[in-house]
Amino acid sequence: MNSIQEVLGNDPRFQADKVSDEELEAWRKSIEEKDRLNVIKSIKRNREKIYRLDSVWGTSGEQTFTFQKWNPKVQPNQKLAHDIWKKSADITKRMFDSNFNVLFYGEAGTGKTAMVLAIIDALKQHSNKLSMFVSVMDLRELIMYDFNDNEAAIKIKNIERSMREVDVLILDDFGSEAGGMKNEGSATERLQQFWFRVAEARQVKDKDGNKRYSTIVTTNNDRGDLERMYNKKIVSRLITKKAENTVVFDGLDDVRE
Ligand SMILES: Nc1ncnc2c1ncn2[C@@H]1O[C@H](COP(=O)(O)OP(=O)(O)OP(=O)(O)O)[C@@H](O)[C@H]1O
Ligand SMILES: [Mg+2]
Repeated sequence: MNSIQEVLGNDPRFQADKVSDEELEAWRKSIEEKDRLNVIKSIKRNREKIYRLDSVWGTSGEQTFTFQKWNPKVQPNQKLAHDIWKKSADITKRMFDSNFNVLFYGEAGTGKTAMVLAIIDALKQHSNKLSMFVSVMDLRELIMYDFNDNEAAIKIKNIERSMREVDVLILDDFGSEAGGMKNEGSATERLQQFWFRVAEARQVKDKDGNKRYSTIVTTNNDRGDLERMYNKKIVSRLITKKAENTVVFDGLDDVRE
């Protein structure tokens, strides 16, 4: 049996409007491509929603900051404040299309969290990367909470899954919950196990050996402190040793009002 295309194609009345196989194929491809892009967009929107729901902001709620708002003049050492801004912006640009761990280290009130919020904003504006913010202290509260509570258990499971798979994970104030880590007990053990699973998942590399995920950590504690508080294996997976990916906020003043 002849196809409709063949029958109509041979009828002189349709000759003028005849669509070639190539044209049909191109049309089909363009529809498929549009569908594909729509699916990708809607998956991204859904993932964005999930990471937003699973972010752990703590009592102060969701916060925002931008690179434009960083004001070197609030610091006595304006040059240092400017250099820190520049280095953070350069790191962010590199993160648009590659993955690596970043460490923001320094005293309280020097602007580490503000800078990390600026990175979240820049990634949203200028890249396809999705991010998730976790206040480590508030996460600890959740994990140490009574585990017989089913709803809390489900919430923690969701948070863990998102922390393992989000493109850019922010761990704000890593080490702040460490007082609790020294205690013996099943809750502490649970916390250690949680961190180990997350740290291990974020190590993953693709087939070309490139890191699949980025993790940005802010902390007041140095590496040695963190290794004592958590565990060497966890620290080695989450905290970069590379100077180019480390921003030291020492030398800046506490500008918290
Ligand atoms: N250079 C800056 N320009 C404008 N605002 C700033 C600057 N540095 C810090 N701030 C503001 O000062 C306050 C304290 O900064 P931030 O919370 O980022 O400090 P931190 O280093 O994260 O402190 P901690 O170690 O206690 O968490 C915030 O409200 C932040 O927005
Ligand atoms: Mg902070």
